[in-house]
Amino acid sequence: MDWNFASRTNRMKGSVIRELLALTQKPEIISFAGGLPDPTMFPVEQFNECMSHVIKTIPSVVFQYGETPGYKPLREIVVEMTKKEGIKDCTIDNVCITTASQQGIELVGKIMVDEDDVVIVEGPTYLATLQAWSVYGAKYVTVDLDDEGMKVDELEEKLEAMKKVGVRPKMIYTIPTFQNPAGVTMTLARRKKLLELAYKYNVPIIEDNPYGDLRFTGTPTPSLYSLDTKGMVVSLKTFSKILAPGLRLGWIVANKDFIAKICMAKQSADLNSPVITQAAVAEFAKRGYIDQHVPKICEAYGKKRQAMEVAMKQYLPQGVKWTNAEGGMFIWVTLPNNVDTTALFPKAIEHKVAYIVGSAFFPYGGGESSMRLNFSFPSLPQIDEGIKRLGDLIKSI
Ligand SMILES: Cc1ncc(COP(=O)(O)O)c(C=O)c1O
Repeated sequence: MDWNFASRTNRMKGSVIRELLALTQKPEIISFAGGLPDPTMFPVEQFNECMSHVIKTIPSVVFQYGETPGYKPLREIVVEMTKKEGIKDCTIDNVCITTASQQGIELVGKIMVDEDDVVIVEGPTYLATLQAWSVYGAKYVTVDLDDEGMKVDELEEKLEAMKKVGVRPKMIYTIPTFQNPAGVTMTLARRKKLLELAYKYNVPIIEDNPYGDLRFTGTPTPSLYSLDTKGMVVSLKTFSKILAPGLRLGWIVANKDFIAKICMAKQSADLNSPVITQAAVAEFAKRGYIDQHVPKICEAYGKKRQAMEVAMKQYLPQGVKWTNAEGGMFIWVTLPNNVDTTALFPKAIEHKVAYIVGSAFFPYGGGESSMRLNFSFPSLPQIDEGIKRLGDLIKSI
């Protein structure tokens, strides 16, 4: 059958990450490859309690279609959560509940990206955003990251160069806090400079912030959304990392006009996110369970992150560098002597350890000698043994 698929499907690429993950499923392999929360941490009993409660008390609501912007009590909870971030003027009209952040990203692409539009991203960045926006024809300009987040001086140079040739980028996409894949957090000074540049060059910022609440050490840095004074930042957040990704629930907070457009795009995507999960999550939050749960995750992941740090110091040879993640789920490791981590990958599997190759996180090349390691999913003994295997592998090159 010749399906005669739409030409845009030619731009759809399978995720390298998902392909690599398939290779790492064997039980003898210790995998630092996935980006999964620790499954032993899911609050099963409490969630069960909340789900049963909403089914029993409001069945005619939770089994029914819902409003596109989201179940009102959950939007009210998001407003409260946003206030805790230091944002005072957020109302439910600034909120759209999404079928997790990935839908938020997809909808932003749908309403923002025209063929050949330039989008600025960090190098490295979150692969699934590149995949989502490429379908709409986005062209990417990358700005390097270092330990302080996006290099805003490089951003300024690139914005200026584009302005000279009449190019106004559509948006700046950043994961400023506990970045995926690099684990780094943008400093306050750089956040302020980034906002200044966004205002000067009139380019909105998409702040993708799934990990911001998972801080183990150090002092919190205010979100870009909370620092913004001109309504030019769009905040994407999710319940995936603070509760469970299986819920597929997240939210966008932004200027009302932006939210109205997002809702219009969402209508044709899925009408509304599942009311039953929204109501159960609202109940979960109302009972104070999120506030109880997040510190538990932070404590567990903080220990795992610390164990990885200890193991890396013990087993990795000199010259290997890694980032200091004060939260989130990832560390970015760079090998010396330009070792290509993609070429090394089959040997890693022989050594029964897996990672994601650094080049997977760049749109047009980069990160070849780096890898992303996840510390939230493996157990403490697996972290020690897995890093030992990684060390043996690197020493064997
Ligand atoms: C940076 C970033 N954005 C968005 C997502 C999507 O998360 P979800 O759709 O589960 O909310 C992820 C998931 O790993 C991520 O790392």
